[in-house]
Amino acid sequence: MNMSVRPQPRPGVMQIDAYVPGKSKAAGVAKIHKLSSNETPLGPSPKAMEAIRTFDHLELYPDGAATKLREAIAARYGLDPNRIVCGTGSDELLSLITNAYVGPGDEGIFTEHGFLVYRIAIQAAGGTPVVAPEKDLRTDVDAILKKVTDRTKIVFLANPNNPTGTYIPFDEVKRLHAGLPPHVLLVLDAAYAEYVRRNDYEAGLELVATSENVVMTRTFSKIYGLANLRLGWMVAPPHIADAINRIRGPFNVSGPAIAAGIAAIQDEAHIAKAIEHNERWLAWLTREIEALGLKVTPSVGNFLLVHFPQEAGRTAKEADSFLSSRGLILRQVEAYGLPDALRLTVGSEEANGLVVAALRDFLGGKNA
Ligand SMILES: Cc1ncc(COP(=O)(O)O)c(C=O)c1O
Repeated sequence: MNMSVRPQPRPGVMQIDAYVPGKSKAAGVAKIHKLSSNETPLGPSPKAMEAIRTFDHLELYPDGAATKLREAIAARYGLDPNRIVCGTGSDELLSLITNAYVGPGDEGIFTEHGFLVYRIAIQAAGGTPVVAPEKDLRTDVDAILKKVTDRTKIVFLANPNNPTGTYIPFDEVKRLHAGLPPHVLLVLDAAYAEYVRRNDYEAGLELVATSENVVMTRTFSKIYGLANLRLGWMVAPPHIADAINRIRGPFNVSGPAIAAGIAAIQDEAHIAKAIEHNERWLAWLTREIEALGLKVTPSVGNFLLVHFPQEAGRTAKEADSFLSSRGLILRQVEAYGLPDALRLTVGSEEANGLVVAALRDFLGGKNA
């Protein structure tokens, strides 16, 4: 077989390390608690479930513009629906944005432990990924600004970031924006914004509304509990929304997703419950895990990063297998440059209690 005559992907495609999702299985365990993908333990709004159950006419194409969903999002946040674009998860939007603004020879910046999809999106578009170092697992605005060159086209900022759970105050986001040349697109990825309880935090809608070079991506996968449906949205200046609308699939968001998204965004009681659950258990898990002698990075999201010593018998890898043998699936974050840590999603009361008990046994040298 002559390999050189078969179709070849564009240069760079085969250099991409594919995204590896959090595990969802553990062998030989009766009950699994999946705490590896930052999914909500509360599930979706019952109203969103009802919208899917009663959805009819799957034989008809959906409204390609997702008009009613954009209107519902716009009403919830006081936005202009024409500036909103919906997608099959914010992942799709991150790729579309990158494809529209980055090409071969261009650079895209993201932070040292930033969400891995940014690197993949930049490489897939033929661009060059540029990594800005973080300070204490936190975005360092000056380090990002130092990486800007004539070739920079895009800067991704997850705020809060996954997998670190840290955030930067809105003042810092504004300082980052002010330091960027006007032709550089700043992408604010606010996938976990709903969870943040800090006075100095803002997702940045105001910055999107008042700039020509800032977009924000949001998701229905996290607090809204609709990860399986694949639904996200972005808000952007009109000229950017226009560019994305030209390259997205004409019917990228399905009818059931549109219907569920509308119901979910209107069910404020369900969101309030999810926020309350997270606030309570994030603090509890942080406290209990620290009390076991492990370092926990202070998080404002629905997950936390737990650091393990490099000592044999106590490493992150060993902790991961110990926890897995009890049906507790966490996320290894070696691919994020954090080989000594595990990321833990805030789970149900039962799962949280089991994790702390298992970590106690692990550190105490007990068998699984
Ligand atoms: C920071 C961040 N952005 C975006 C996403 C993508 O979410 P989705 O494509 O499900 O909307 C995730 C999911 O893990 C995330 O952690």
